[in-house]
Amino acid sequence: MSWGNMRACSRAFQGLFEAISVTYSMSFLETLARIEHRLRGVVGVLPPSVGVRLFSAGRTAFAKEFAQDVPPKVFIPPSELGVTAWGLRFQLPLWNAAGMFKKGEGYDVVSRQGAGGYVAGTTTSRAREGNVRNGVRWPAIPYAHSHAGSNWMGLPNEGHAVVAARLARIERRAGCPVGASVSAEPGLDDAMATPELVEGIKLYDGAGVDYIELNESCPNVHGYQGATILDAALLKRLDAIATHVLAHRSRRLPVVAKFSTDVNLEQIPELVQTLIERGFDGIVLGNTSTRYAEYRSAIDQRDTSLYDYFTSTYGGGLSGGILRLDSLAAARCAVDAVRALAPSHEFQVIRCGGISSAADIVESHKAGVLLNQWYVGYFEAFALAGHNVYGAVVSRMSESLTETLS
Ligand SMILES: Cc1cc2nc3c(=O)[nH]c(=O)nc-3n(C[C@H](O)[C@H](O)[C@H](O)COP(=O)(O)O)c2cc1C
Repeated sequence: MSWGNMRACSRAFQGLFEAISVTYSMSFLETLARIEHRLRGVVGVLPPSVGVRLFSAGRTAFAKEFAQDVPPKVFIPPSELGVTAWGLRFQLPLWNAAGMFKKGEGYDVVSRQGAGGYVAGTTTSRAREGNVRNGVRWPAIPYAHSHAGSNWMGLPNEGHAVVAARLARIERRAGCPVGASVSAEPGLDDAMATPELVEGIKLYDGAGVDYIELNESCPNVHGYQGATILDAALLKRLDAIATHVLAHRSRRLPVVAKFSTDVNLEQIPELVQTLIERGFDGIVLGNTSTRYAEYRSAIDQRDTSLYDYFTSTYGGGLSGGILRLDSLAAARCAVDAVRALAPSHEFQVIRCGGISSAADIVESHKAGVLLNQWYVGYFEAFALAGHNVYGAVVSRMSESLTETLS
């Protein structure tokens, strides 16, 4: 097919999508997400290498448009569903997980949808291109029948300074605080990486963000420690942040640390204690997983050839519904540790991993977890509900949830 024909074809498809969008009063992007979701299973029929190539390119293009697709209507959740933590008001106990808005874009989209908060990044001190392998930039794939996915993006980002400057210009909506996810520069010697990380946090402080999330768990970069987390390098980094940031705060700026749900449950009490002793304000559990062999049995057999291909070719981190129980167990364990330690300052546990519905938030709440984040579940819900994504969660909140949360 010639370029001219291809362009004509693509214009025709766009026209078709736009017609459907107008008919159903959805944005072009909402329609696209719905169609993509319906066709997702088809990716599994393609040779895995082709599926990964197609999806990775499509995901990148979609993410760019998504961050600009500001919903015309604002959804304000019922006030009794909101949560106050660290003196900040979250209009819902649920918001996007880090990695969705790496450039600090898209705040208007999710805050108008009704998200309880927003987090930009992860950013590092130096701009990063992210991973490319076999000609695929930022490899990612959904496992359509398993409500899960893998990515091996490698923290592509523009750097703390650029994103902090962008966040400084955000006009906040009430009930939707702005967070920034930061990481030490992967592959850089700790002696340089740690001071650069501290400087990055200070830039975000200067930009007026409401909280900081320290990403200690990206499996897609050199230096990832897996489940052995309480190593000397981590402790030194936490000490440096405690000394140079936490001890010098001129305003209330909660700093939380994010770890993978791959952390052994037995390590969690010590980890929580380590954070509390240094003045950190919370823990996010967790990030993606690299336990490929263990989670394979939870993958629908229609997805296993893609799963085997991706995990053996790229590795990467697993996310989505397969993490639901483990994120709950890890978060519950952290809550128990916090209760046992009874710290003199507020310390919150944020659950992340496999959250997809109001029922998950209820389970979190029963475990003593007030705050939740989602990534894979968010996009699945967006495909079904479009910009009413948080409205749909709220409307499915049963009376018991309202009672539980109020
Ligand atoms: C494509 C993609 C990119 C991600 N990028 C980041 C990131 O930059 N920083 C981070 O802390 N977590 C990142 N994550 C992990 C998510 O924030 C979240 O911890 C993980 O996906 C588990 O949540 P889920 O099961 O709701 O998807 C990323 C996840 C995905 C799927």
